[in-house]
Amino acid sequence: MHHALILSLLASTALAGPRRPHSHAVATGEIKCPIVFDGRVKTTTELTDFDSYGTSIFNPDYVKGNDIKWSQIIKFPAVNGSRFDDAETHKPFEVTISDQSIFQQQRGFRRAGLQFQGDTNSGSPGSSGIKTIHFSLKWDAQRALNLSHEYLNVWHEAGDYSANQFNFEAGSILGQSSLARDTWKVLDRKNKQIWSTPILKNEWQNFAVTLNFQRNTLQVYYSKGAEPLKSVTSAVSNDNSGQGQYQIGILKKPTGTSDVVNSGYQQKNLNEGLIYGGLFLEDSANNCISL
Ligand SMILES: *[C@@H]1O[C@H](CO)[C@@H](O)[C@H](O)[C@H]1NC(C)=O
Ligand SMILES: *[C@@H]1O[C@H](CO)[C@@H](O)[C@H](O)[C@H]1NC(C)=O
Repeated sequence: MHHALILSLLASTALAGPRRPHSHAVATGEIKCPIVFDGRVKTTTELTDFDSYGTSIFNPDYVKGNDIKWSQIIKFPAVNGSRFDDAETHKPFEVTISDQSIFQQQRGFRRAGLQFQGDTNSGSPGSSGIKTIHFSLKWDAQRALNLSHEYLNVWHEAGDYSANQFNFEAGSILGQSSLARDTWKVLDRKNKQIWSTPILKNEWQNFAVTLNFQRNTLQVYYSKGAEPLKSVTSAVSNDNSGQGQYQIGILKKPTGTSDVVNSGYQQKNLNEGLIYGGLFLEDSANNCISL
C-alpha cells in the first residue's frame, strides 16, 4: 500500500474518534474458513452486472426463463444484510419468478436458479473434500411463495442430472403430504426429510449444510436473526457421489400432474420472490465451519 494512503487512513481513523459499535447494521458472523465460491453481492453491484460473465459472480446464462435476463429476475430489496453480510460490502438480493420463468421446454416448472461462476458440472472444487454452503433467507410478503406448491431453493444436483445430493425446500412436498407446508426442510438424496424448521416471516433465518464428499454425510446448521449457527443434525449418512453443481434460487413445481417437468398447474400473473443474503461456499477441511 502507498505510504501516503496509509497515513491518510490513519489520520481519518484518528479524526473519526471512537466508532459506535452499532451505528449501522454490520455482520455479526465472522467467516473463519477459506471461501471457495462467494455468492455475496457487493453493494456496488448493479442489476445488469448479472447479465455477463465479466461482471457477474454467477453464471449469467443459467438456469432461468429463456426470454428474460438475470437483471429482470434479481431485485435489491430494502432490507438489512444477514449475519454473514458486511453492510459496507454486501447487500441482500431477491430471486423472483414470473410467468416468464420457463427454462428450455420445462413448462411445468417456474424457475430461476443461480450457479456460482466456476462451479463446473464436472471437477468442481465444490464437489470434493468437505464443503459447507451458507445462505440466509428472508420472506418477502409482497412476493410470498404459495406453500400449496413444492419449492426447491438450494440444492446440489449430480453431474448427470439424475438426482440431487440434497434439497433445501419449502411448501408442500409432492407425494409427502404428512410433512408440514410452512417449513424450510432439508431432504437427503432419497428425498427423505432430515430436518425442518418453521418459516419465519419477519426475520432472517440462517442455514448451512455441510457436504462431506469423503465420508458421504450431510450436516445441517441453523440460527435466526443475528444468532450464531448451531448444529441441528448429526452428520447423517448420504450418498454425495456424482459431482455436479449447486443451485440457489427458486424452482416451483406445479400441482395436479405426475409429469412435473412438463405439465401441471401454475397460477398466472405469478410474482413471487425470496430474499437471499450471506451466500457462500466454505471449505470445511479439518471440520472448519463458520458459525
Ligand atoms: C437496518 O438497521 C438499522 C440499524 O440497526 C435500523 O435502524 C433500520 O431500521 C434497519 N432497516 C431495516 C429496513 O430493517
Ligand atoms: C396457490 O396454489 C394453489 C394450488 O395451485 C392454487 O389453487 C391457489 O389459487 C394458489 N393461491 C394463490 C394466492 O395464487
